[in-house]
Amino acid sequence: MIDRYAYPHRLLHWGVAVVLLFSLSSGLTLGFLGFEGAMERLGRAGTDTLYTLHKTAGVMMLGLMTARLITRLIYVVPVHEPPLPPFQHVLSTAVHHLLYVALLAMPVLGWLATATGGFPVQFFQFNLPGLVGENEALSQQLFVWHGWLGWVILGLVVLHICGALYHWLIRRDGVMTRMSLF
Ligand code: HEM
Ligand code: HEM
Repeated sequence: MIDRYAYPHRLLHWGVAVVLLFSLSSGLTLGFLGFEGAMERLGRAGTDTLYTLHKTAGVMMLGLMTARLITRLIYVVPVHEPPLPPFQHVLSTAVHHLLYVALLAMPVLGWLATATGGFPVQFFQFNLPGLVGENEALSQQLFVWHGWLGWVILGLVVLHICGALYHWLIRRDGVMTRMSLF
């Protein structure tokens, strides 16, 4: 019986976790400081670097999540043995699905908000095609949604990590092993 997620899927899980740590912390820093605040504290070069790194991590997330959706669909999902209690099953499945939707929507929103605002969609030193025309009002609205979704993702991840730690340290069942690399 298969009792762990496939190795490529486990690799992508931890890759997404690392990139999310980076994209969320850089995004929240940008959100709290704003452009003017970042310029005051970090100067022109520091501000440009922070924006470029944030966009680069966000574009990486889009690639990783697309790959992850594929590995989720092509590999068998292991069954829980013994089965999870119904409440935990429903809650964890809901959180997992919402994370997929949110982590695919978030970089798309960031990309479209950036492009409609007339800013470059950067991936390291490359400028990717914006794909949409400039529209200042739409850009502002998309950035508002980008900000809200950031808090939603933070909430989902906190719930998810609490669940994982509960299984690992308190219940001490095999749930952590299903996703661990070793
Ligand atoms: C999963 C990936 C991403 C996460 C978690 C994320 C998260 C965030 C967060 C939390 C903020 C602060 C929003 C606010 O409070 O106003 C932010 C801002 C921003 N994000 Fe993202 N983001 C992601 C992807 C992207 C992508 C792909 C782009 C563009 C290519 C992008 C461009 C921006 C820009 C330009 C800002 C600054 C907005 C402003 O100055 O008002 N983000 N991001
Ligand atoms: C921080 C970003 C993280 C995200 C976005 C994330 C997302 C997910 C998702 C969507 C799943 C469902 C499996 C799938 O369908 O792919 C999952 C499973 C899992 N995650 Fe995470 N995760 C994160 C971090 C963590 C951390 C830090 C831990 C450990 C403390 C962890 C432990 C697990 C475990 C044990 C499973 C397997 C659950 C099961 O048995 O189905 N995750 N994760």
